[in-house]
Amino acid sequence: MDHFLYRDGALFAEDVPISEIAAAVGTPFYVYSTATLLRHFKLFDDALEGTDHLVCYAMKAASNQAILKTLAQAGAGMDVVSGGEYRRAKAAGVPGEKIVFSGVGKTADEIRTALIGGIRQFNVESEPEMQVINAVALELGVNAPITVRVNPDVDAKTHAKIATGKSENKFGIPISRASEVYALAASLPGLEVIGIDVHIGSQLTELEPFELAYNKVAELTERLRSEGHNIRRLDLGGGLGIPYTRSNDAPPLPVEYGAMIKKTLGHLGCEIEIEPGRLIAGNAGLMVSRVIYVKSGEDRDFLILDGAMNDLIRPAMYEAHHDIVAVDEPAAGVEQRPYDIVGPVCESGDTFAKQRNMPPLKSGDLIAFRSAGAYGAVMSSEYNTRPLIPEVLVNGDQFAVIRERPSFDEIINRDTIPEWL
Ligand code: LLP
Repeated sequence: MDHFLYRDGALFAEDVPISEIAAAVGTPFYVYSTATLLRHFKLFDDALEGTDHLVCYAMKAASNQAILKTLAQAGAGMDVVSGGEYRRAKAAGVPGEKIVFSGVGKTADEIRTALIGGIRQFNVESEPEMQVINAVALELGVNAPITVRVNPDVDAKTHAKIATGKSENKFGIPISRASEVYALAASLPGLEVIGIDVHIGSQLTELEPFELAYNKVAELTERLRSEGHNIRRLDLGGGLGIPYTRSNDAPPLPVEYGAMIKKTLGHLGCEIEIEPGRLIAGNAGLMVSRVIYVKSGEDRDFLILDGAMNDLIRPAMYEAHHDIVAVDEPAAGVEQRPYDIVGPVCESGDTFAKQRNMPPLKSGDLIAFRSAGAYGAVMSSEYNTRPLIPEVLVNGDQFAVIRERPSFDEIINRDTIPEWL
C-alpha cells in the first residue's frame, strides 16, 4: 500500500497534486511519501514486536538524508556499505551505535572512520578483512564488534544479478568453514565476536529461501555456542520483495516474515537485526517524467520521455518492470494502446517498457513510474550530461526539494583541464 492515489482525476502524493510539484521543480524528478516510508518501517518493527530487535534500513536503496532522518526519528538503525554511506548516516543524525557496516570490500580507511565515529558492528565477509579490522582496532586501542557473514548456499530464486547467497557469489564465508573462521576471530585481540550475519539476496518473493537460510543460522548458533562463542545477535539481512505490478501475486508480508523469524530463531534468545531496503523505500517513491514526443514508427508507436535510463536504470539493468501511469487519470473505459516507452539517451537499451498499454497521451503530458523509490535515484548517473534529477519529499500537504537539480555549469565545471591543454 502507498499514498500515491488519484483524487478528482489527478494523481496525488499524499495531499499534494503531482502536477503542482512538476510545475515547481520541473521534470523529471523523484517524489517520496513520508507516510509510506514510515508505514513500511513500522510494519517491520511491529512484525518483530516482543523480540529484542533493531530494523536497520539498508540505505543503499534510497540514501537522501531527509529519508534517513525520517526513518531514524521513527527509531530505525542503518545498514551502510561504504565510508560514504557511513558519513551520510551520521550527517543525518544517526548515532554510531545504530549503524551496521556491511559489504565485501571495506578498506582500512573506512574501518577507521567507523571505529572512530562509533559502530554497532561490522559484518565481516572474509578472513583478510577480519585481519584488517583487527589491526585498525588495535591501532586505535578499541575493540571492534563483529559478526561474520555466512553464505548458506541457498537459492534465493531471484534475478541472478541480485542473488547473493549461493556458493558461487562473492559474499560471506561458506557456512561449512564457520567454525574455523570464528576460531580465528576469537583469537584476534582487537575483535569482539557478537553474532552471525546472513543476507541471501534481494526482491525475494517467497519465504522458503529465507527459512532455509535461517534454519542453517539457528544450527550454526548452537554449534558456535558449544564451541565457546558468545553468539547474542543475529543479523538476518534484507531482501523481502515488493509487488511491482498490481496484478502479480503479492510477496509475503512483513508480518509473515516476522512470524517465520520468531519460529526459526526465537528459541535462541538472540537480539534480531534485519536490513530491509526495498520494502521500505520502493513503493514510497515515484519517478515523474513528461512526454516529449509521441513518435509513430513503422510497426509501433513510441512515447519519448524526458526521463531516461540514467535516471532510472532498473529496466535496462535487470529487465525490471515498473508500472507506468498517467498523472491525469484516464477516463473510465478509455481505449488503451501499446507503446514502447523510451528515454532520449542514444542507445536502444534506453527502453523502460515495450508494447505497454497506455491511455491516449500527447506531448507535454505527465506520467509516473511506480515503485521507483528504491534503487532509483541512488543508481542514477549523468550519462549524456543529463543532470541528476531532483528528489522531493512530501509530508501531508507539504513538500520540499531534498536534492536540487544541479545546473549545467556545476556539472561542466567539475571537470578540470590539464595545463598542457
Ligand atoms: N543487506 C545487504 C547486505 C544487502 O546487500 C542488501 C541489498 C540489503 C540488505 C537490502 O536488500 P533489500 O531489502 O533492498 O532487497 N539494485 C538492485 C538491488 C541490489 C540489492 C543489493 N543489496 C535493484 O535495483 O533491484
